[in-house]
Amino acid sequence: MNLFSVCELTVTPVRYDVLMANLGPENATAPAGAEGVFVATRVLLLMLLLLLLLLVAWTHREAHVPGPSFCLGVGPLLSYLRFLWTGIGTASNYYNNKYGDIARVWINGEETLILSSSSAVRHVLRSSRYTARFGSQPGLGCLGMSGRGIIFNNDVALWKKTRSYFAKALTGLGVLHTVDVCVSSTQSHLDGLRASDPLGGDGLSQVDVLSVLRGIVVDVSNTLFLGVPTDEKELLGKILKYFDTWQTVLIKPDIYFKLDWIHQSHKDAAQELQDTIERLIDQKRRELQEADKLDHINFTADLIFAQGHGELSADHVRQCVLEMVIAAPDTLSVSLFFMLLLLKQHHEVELRILTELDTVVGGRKLRNEDLPKLCVLETFINESLRFHPVVDFTMRRALSQDLIQGFRVPEGTNVILNVGRMHRTEFYPKPEEFSLDNFEKNVPSRYFQPFGSGQRSCVGKHIAMVMMKSILVTILSCYSLFPHQGLTLASLPQTNNLSQQPVESEQDPHTLAMTLIPRRRTTGSPCPTAGL
Ligand code: HEM
Ligand SMILES: *[C@@H]1O[C@H](CO)[C@@H](O)[C@H](O)[C@H]1NC(C)=O
Ligand SMILES: *[C@@H]1O[C@H](CO)[C@@H](O)[C@H](O)[C@H]1NC(C)=O
Ligand SMILES: *[C@@H]1O[C@H](CO)[C@@H](O)[C@H](O)[C@H]1NC(C)=O
Repeated sequence: MNLFSVCELTVTPVRYDVLMANLGPENATAPAGAEGVFVATRVLLLMLLLLLLLLVAWTHREAHVPGPSFCLGVGPLLSYLRFLWTGIGTASNYYNNKYGDIARVWINGEETLILSSSSAVRHVLRSSRYTARFGSQPGLGCLGMSGRGIIFNNDVALWKKTRSYFAKALTGLGVLHTVDVCVSSTQSHLDGLRASDPLGGDGLSQVDVLSVLRGIVVDVSNTLFLGVPTDEKELLGKILKYFDTWQTVLIKPDIYFKLDWIHQSHKDAAQELQDTIERLIDQKRRELQEADKLDHINFTADLIFAQGHGELSADHVRQCVLEMVIAAPDTLSVSLFFMLLLLKQHHEVELRILTELDTVVGGRKLRNEDLPKLCVLETFINESLRFHPVVDFTMRRALSQDLIQGFRVPEGTNVILNVGRMHRTEFYPKPEEFSLDNFEKNVPSRYFQPFGSGQRSCVGKHIAMVMMKSILVTILSCYSLFPHQGLTLASLPQTNNLSQQPVESEQDPHTLAMTLIPRRRTTGSPCPTAGL
């Protein structure tokens, strides 16, 4: 092989044998002359070219992202099995801990990067190259999410259009009602608990707080975005089954979907929620036809009109409403549950929050204007989302080729942003501890991304803060909550497949139960039991 043509340099090749002969001992002892100088120049030139070649090879070397080796396909198989077995979140943490804050693995044979450094995460969040997500095609089809809805819709043009409907409902004027809706829904759920408490006393025992929180959140979502009366418990049951299906099918291999008997129950679960939502939309449609004046055009009504104008398909509208209804119960209610546990483990924080509530809200009803003044509460919420997030990571896909921290990222590469790990490895003074000190100093946004940012961030991030504050304020100003048998966040059984979720034991349904003791607070408190 002609070595030099590789570098595309037009140099007359030097014959190796001639060179060796020239360098031979006889030549070395020969008197220096024109011949000797010529040889020396050639050798020097050769060495220079070799150096150049090395340099070219070094700069062009394929930079490999650290990760398990391919090893005849065993690497991809093993990493995929780990994701299937332990869940996406757990596996991502495993690989980042093993290979560093940028790791390459394979999911379903596809190259997948797991990123947990703030600079890489920021790069992806800011870039418009990563506005798609990844997931099994038949799996998303089974959920009705493939090319429809918003959350895993990878039809970028349709996703953009859809997102504007969500953004309209979840930001600006759309949020104004939220505080009132959350406060009254929380109060009526607490009233419901009191009415059904067997002891009928002051306190409430054995309360399945997570279910209550889910109930509140699904009721709020319905009131704000749909506005059709439903059987809350039944709807909630279907949402949980849908979520379970989502976790199960999201990264399954295609073969899984060929075996009907294995995934039929999941398919049915997804279908059941879709059918329920369909019925609710039909009911809404009838109501809209009968209504003579339309005061508030809300989310579902908006979509129904868009469908009427031929802008959106019926299937798409159904999926959008479904995703709007499931978004909060799947994330926000679990977040609130984690927060209530954390609060009991940090009594001094609870006291600070209560003092702030007394000062800012006093005994009256919570108002919109109060929210920005609840600084301790906001810090507590932020620290909870940092320390123990529900959504630990997000899934993206590269729509075109890119470079991340010097590594080539081919088009179609899957990307996992392991934000949960990022929140514990950079910037914070006490990263492994729950402490409000972590938010004492202003935290630059690049280090705190509980909702993501950029074009594909959580479209509900503003309303989520409003909802969390309103519900927490209402619960905390009426009750002090005590988990059973010293349940703590650390002892709580959890999984991290698609997000961090508590595992509710079927044998012992009371593992997550709490006792609610009424607070005795200042007069005029909105809590019916207070001041007794
Ligand atoms: C504590 C509560 C919540 C947390 C921690 C949370 C977090 C997240 C995260 C991390 C993402 C992915 C962002 C990304 O890929 O960069 C996301 C997406 C999304 N969230 Fe939330 N979320 C919460 C509540 C809500 C609520 C209440 C709603 C709506 C009512 C909502 C609607 C959505 C939607 C529609 C998406 C998909 C956006 C898209 O793909 O364009 N979320 N959320
Ligand atoms: C939603 O819209 C319907 C019809 O336009 C209306 O009756 C209902 O009160 C609205 N709900 C909210 C919370 O704005
Ligand atoms: C979630 O992950 C756990 C492992 O932590 C596993 O046992 C469980 O079956 C998974 N659940 C689903 C629905 O995938
Ligand atoms: C809490 O986090 C949000 C970003 O999600 C930020 O805008 C806000 O300033 C933070 N609040 C406090 C008190 O740290």
